[in-house]
Amino acid sequence: MQTRVLPFNDESIAEAARLISAGEPVAVPTETVYGLAADATNAEAVTRIYEAKGRPSFNPLIVHVPDLEAAEVIGELSDEARALAERHWPGPLTLVVPLRADAGIASIVTAGLPTIGLRVPAHPAMQALLRAVGRPLAAPSANASGAISPTRAEHVLKSLGSRIPLILDDGPTERGLESTIVAATGGPLRLLRPGPIAVDAAESSSGKIEAPGQLAGHYAPSKPLRLNASSVEANEYLIGFGEVSGDANLSVSGDLVEAAARLFDLLHQADASPKPRIAVASIPAHGLGAAINDRLRRAAA
Ligand code: TXA
Ligand code: MG
Repeated sequence: MQTRVLPFNDESIAEAARLISAGEPVAVPTETVYGLAADATNAEAVTRIYEAKGRPSFNPLIVHVPDLEAAEVIGELSDEARALAERHWPGPLTLVVPLRADAGIASIVTAGLPTIGLRVPAHPAMQALLRAVGRPLAAPSANASGAISPTRAEHVLKSLGSRIPLILDDGPTERGLESTIVAATGGPLRLLRPGPIAVDAAESSSGKIEAPGQLAGHYAPSKPLRLNASSVEANEYLIGFGEVSGDANLSVSGDLVEAAARLFDLLHQADASPKPRIAVASIPAHGLGAAINDRLRRAAA
């Protein structure tokens, strides 16, 4: 299969909507990372996502909808969940809530769970696609299973080229890290994945894996990765931060927003470099640093 890459505009959205309505998956930018979108009500279409990614089918997908109203048709939002949604949607927040039985979502989307991850994305391309298709779109990050998430169309092409028909290109994504995931399934809110939005919820401490895609090693580059590097060692590609400069720097000024936006891009660059090892400077733990360090720990695992 030949993979086309088209710039995001009215024409490419119409083509993407046509493909999705025909049951094909299409890669589309969001404000976090590029997603691989398919009609969430069509089990066969969703199966093509799993096939293209080589993803274990016990791993549930996030469903994207255009607004809160559309989310309430699919999931049961508690008052607390609705308050979070009103505050952060559209934006990089996913809410895991009880799935409504009559929602019409293919059960392969939730991997049979009684809950569903819902998100209202802010990116104009994903918004336009949702409105053009008129159906909820299941969309995991558009990378082969276990690999680093894509923040550019080129990353998608490298990871999934020849496995999907179309990539919509709108340049590098703004946030660069996947959405914050919060579970609102009864009892106190639980943070399942730290991300761009800081939410006042306890980190899940049950010991069970509640966001199955959160296994260690989920964001792994193909090379060994050393954390908290203060200087470069032999054969390493060093990703710097602030005053620790390296082959590339996440943010010379020590800005965590900039570092988050560049993290996966620099991991892709390090992975593609001739150096056999990767090292990353230490990143402060506060604010967005929590989400950045979460991804780095997984990449090093
Ligand atoms: O920013 C994002 O969230 C991006 C863009 C494309 O929206 N999507 C994304 O999807 O990161 P993915 O599939 O790579 O990660 C989804 C995570 C996985 O860890 C999955 O296990 C978890 O969400 N998840 C989805 N539905 C769930 C559910 N019902 N219960 C618990 N975890 C769930
Ligand atoms: Mg992913």
